[in-house]
Amino acid sequence: KRKVIIDCDPGIDDSLAILLALNSPELEVLGITVCSGNVPANLGAKNALKALQMCSSLDVPVYIGEELPLKKELITAQDTHGEDGIGENFYEEVDAKILHGGVDFIIDTLNRNKDVSIIALGPLTNIAKALIKDKKAFDNLDEFVSMGGTYKSHGNCSPVAEFNYWVDPHAAEYVYKNLPKKIHMIGLDVTRKIVLTPNIIEFINKLDKDVSKYITEITRFYIDFHWNQEGIIGCVINDPLAVAYFIDRNLCNGFDSYVEIVEEGKAIGQTIVDAYDFYKKKHNAHILTEVDAKAFMKMFIKNIFKDKGN
Ligand code: BDR
Ligand code: CA
Repeated sequence: KRKVIIDCDPGIDDSLAILLALNSPELEVLGITVCSGNVPANLGAKNALKALQMCSSLDVPVYIGEELPLKKELITAQDTHGEDGIGENFYEEVDAKILHGGVDFIIDTLNRNKDVSIIALGPLTNIAKALIKDKKAFDNLDEFVSMGGTYKSHGNCSPVAEFNYWVDPHAAEYVYKNLPKKIHMIGLDVTRKIVLTPNIIEFINKLDKDVSKYITEITRFYIDFHWNQEGIIGCVINDPLAVAYFIDRNLCNGFDSYVEIVEEGKAIGQTIVDAYDFYKKKHNAHILTEVDAKAFMKMFIKNIFKDKGN
């Protein structure tokens, strides 16, 4: 089993990613750290507990980390994910403890283990703060996967910027500049191809009652948003692809490059991918550009519904 920390901002697709991670035998999830993004961090942490409850994994600790981006004011995505962050179902709060000190949890976990990876599904605020506080701890980092950015695909917050890096561009830039490991960038180029459609939802409803009910409920709002906003039937589920790719490298293909994030001005949050090596800088990222969407969906259903889909 590979040890991982999931850093996130739940979020509808973050919640689905948590379901996938906790149902995947390849992973040992040491903890979930939350920062503000889709919703303020305290709300995101409650949503993380709900997802953990849905996979009977309330023993996994949930930590609140940074509540504000490094420099920019916080702009959440409650128009996309709902007022409560998970599709306006306003579930009863899960009766379990939420811990504080997400940044220190990341640092301590890295210091105590030599083989921990991080799957980041939200803005990179917690990671940047941890790096600022104890860069040395990251020498122990195994791999780092980040859902964020975009290469050739258009943005989802501006023509050029993806949400996670747009919310905290200073954190994203800091992490890309300072992380001692190459960042696997799961951007919109690949996640846009991962669409959870009504027919798939109908299919999973035949496999199981509770989990598929939860998935159906939390995605309803998101599906309406996609229809109204982009004319898409179904919803793009970005974050679970980062988990799936961490488990199976064959799901996506890409190339190594040097990447910077625009911190100010009109293009704020944009990922500048130096694919043609203009800057002649050391490659700090592996940019994923192709994905086998069918294979992803198979893994997603197979792991969460324990082979019932086969
Ligand atoms: C990313 O932004 C958030 O709204 C999603 O949870 C995902 O992490 C996609 O741009
Ligand atoms: Ca997210």
